[in-house]
Amino acid sequence: MTSNVNPSAVSTEKKATYEDILRLALERGFFYPSAEIYNDAAAGFWDYGPLGFLMKSNFIREWRRRLVNFDEMLEIDGSLILPKSVFEASGHLSSLVDPLVQCTKCGNRIRADKYISEKTGLQIDERLSPEEFQELIQKYNLKCPKCGGELGKPIQFNMMFRVGVGTENADAYLRPETAQSIFLDFSRLSKTMRIKLPKGIAQVGKSFRNEISPRQSLVRLRELIQAEIEVFFNPKPSFDPGKLAKLKDTRLNVLSFPYTGEAKEVELEDAVKIFGGMEIIAYYFALLQRFYEAVGFEKSNTRFRELSPSDRAFYTTSSFDFEVKTSLGWNELVACNYRTDYDLSNHTRASKKDLSVMDDETKIVPHVVELSLGVDRSLFYLLDSYFVHESNRDVLRLRPSISPYLAAVFPLLSKPEFEDKARAVYDSLKTEDFAVFYDSSGNIGRRYRRMDEVGTPYCITIDPQSLDDNTVTIRERDSMKQERIPINEVSTRLRALRDNVK
Ligand code: GLY
Repeated sequence: MTSNVNPSAVSTEKKATYEDILRLALERGFFYPSAEIYNDAAAGFWDYGPLGFLMKSNFIREWRRRLVNFDEMLEIDGSLILPKSVFEASGHLSSLVDPLVQCTKCGNRIRADKYISEKTGLQIDERLSPEEFQELIQKYNLKCPKCGGELGKPIQFNMMFRVGVGTENADAYLRPETAQSIFLDFSRLSKTMRIKLPKGIAQVGKSFRNEISPRQSLVRLRELIQAEIEVFFNPKPSFDPGKLAKLKDTRLNVLSFPYTGEAKEVELEDAVKIFGGMEIIAYYFALLQRFYEAVGFEKSNTRFRELSPSDRAFYTTSSFDFEVKTSLGWNELVACNYRTDYDLSNHTRASKKDLSVMDDETKIVPHVVELSLGVDRSLFYLLDSYFVHESNRDVLRLRPSISPYLAAVFPLLSKPEFEDKARAVYDSLKTEDFAVFYDSSGNIGRRYRRMDEVGTPYCITIDPQSLDDNTVTIRERDSMKQERIPINEVSTRLRALRDNVK
């Protein structure tokens, strides 16, 4: 059986639009606006429904398998709320800001840099001062896009959500990145877990950013899921050549700054040169590339784009965005940052705690390379890549390891003898921890279509022959081919299909 089909290889299909994906998400339980029954629900907050939840769990399982466990990283689960002192030291309080301008007439609030760039076609650095933004607004005579009113004085809007803790209402913030608790915990972990550098520490969880203009559903959220990896290392010694050799067949598409044309596909050796001789960066970028290919992004549609100094976050000295080409253009999935010793040194100074560690005989403050992965937008762009209309059906061609359900079980007819046998197959698959779905209602063709639409790669049907010889048919979603196999081989077959596909 075929396991997956390159979406671009089928000629009779039509790619789904953004609206189609949203319809699928809303109508089939992938995601929908949170608190949607209330009029005052704010934009930028979305709930995952049952299918979105399953897909997200599968994606995170693969991330854990192919990055965290593969590289023997440690994984933690830190607090969502952290005290003000953390973000004073990290720089988020002063620097995690967006330029905001408000209309003096209708109160409309917009991002100054985006609006000026949209109206003038100029590249605008988001880190300009409020005065510089004001000069540009005056120079180009820009008015409110909603009512034409005068725009007020631009301000630096901090994107963190402030919360008051305890009866004294102490200043604290919802974390804007999961990374901070990794830095805060590093000293303890280095002792309790007897860390030897280089070592990756990972965390997956919610982060919060009060975006001025949340948009495109899961693409720009105010409450988002990050899967972050901070790799601590000694910048002096060279990297373990054995580790790099294991990934030597991986090639990366790299677009260096300043940009001249398209990204170049390079071998890891050449990537090391592009990354200033830092083998550690090439190694982790290669792991990331392999992970995204495994979950379904074609390498030709991915690239590592180096950010210009003015586009980089305040805590990094070198940054690449791992981007995918989607129906919405090139989009960032992962921020790959060289954070140097910025965070540990700042927390050392502010907390007056020594956060250095011994590496062999030397006391050092480790440097950090970060892979900060956006889970929600990765899921959105997987839907964008794999949801297609064929002439007589809609199909979500996700990889079996990512699809919400791995299989559905159907009795061909809703008669007790068919239902009992189908239920028994379904129950036994459930106890083996497969995500399976049972459906006995409606005509079998429609049941197949409903599963195609939500990405279920295999449908198992109990038919009259099953009652005689204990076999079932197993139908593959993309080819729609059916094969007859013994019931007692179903679970082994499903496991192999899920795990052996890239
Ligand atoms: N930790 C980096 C980021 O949140 O973008």
